[in-house]
Amino acid sequence: MDDCRYAIEVENLTKIYGKGGSTVIALSGASIQVKPGELVAILGPSGSGKTTLLTSIGLINEPTHGRVVIDGTVVADEGWLPGIDLKRLRREKLGFIFQAHNLIPFLTARENVMIALEINQLSRGEAKARATELLGVLNLGHRMDNYPSSLSGGEAQRVAIARALANKPKVILADEPTAALDTENGKNVMILLKKLALENHSAILVVTHDHRMVDGFDRIFHVNDGHVNTES
Ligand SMILES: Nc1ncnc2c1ncn2[C@@H]1O[C@H](COP(=O)(O)OP(=O)(O)O)[C@@H](O)[C@H]1O
Ligand SMILES: [Mg+2]
Repeated sequence: MDDCRYAIEVENLTKIYGKGGSTVIALSGASIQVKPGELVAILGPSGSGKTTLLTSIGLINEPTHGRVVIDGTVVADEGWLPGIDLKRLRREKLGFIFQAHNLIPFLTARENVMIALEINQLSRGEAKARATELLGVLNLGHRMDNYPSSLSGGEAQRVAIARALANKPKVILADEPTAALDTENGKNVMILLKKLALENHSAILVVTHDHRMVDGFDRIFHVNDGHVNTES
């Protein structure tokens, strides 16, 4: 829907883990809005709620209170909206880059990227061309036919990044995507994210501690003790 103003709208999001006497308030009334094409950093100390914010927006972690709207679709309003197809929305609108890369061990690097494209109905030829292009941009042109077990940690992370970006999702969620990479590959990832924000109008949220990378962002959200401050 091109007429919707925000790619991500979060209103008064509260997430409480656990029940009874041992609850943790991980997020407390967080509100953010991100427009299509914006590249936003999320900074904050360990345990402040950054991953909870990302996984709540990513339709993985059910909010306890508050609203989440993705690309114009209300997905949560005091819990998931009844009848909402979370898997389908995840597949069609979201790209995830998490620290644990979860590549499929019996597929090559290129096939790991292609499978994400084929799930969304691209032909095998188109999927191969797009996977080859993306892996090339991420300096993996020479590793495309390798299996995950023969890739270094940084290479496997870049294959996972290519897979997350393959479908040009409207919303890209990345939890420390450059932490395991050297400076050059970290920069390549940031350049690619910036390009996707501009060319595909993707909204991109990146949790990072990586001070080498902070320059390229349009805005910075600070998370502290479950509260999000969006005035950078
Ligand atoms: N599944 C869970 N069950 C219980 N507590 C959790 C869970 N996930 C995170 N927490 C707690 O919620 C708070 C926020 O965690 P998290 O969102 O992972 O923070 P960050 O990513 O900023 O380190 C922390 O106190 C953490 O211990
Ligand atoms: Mg985290």
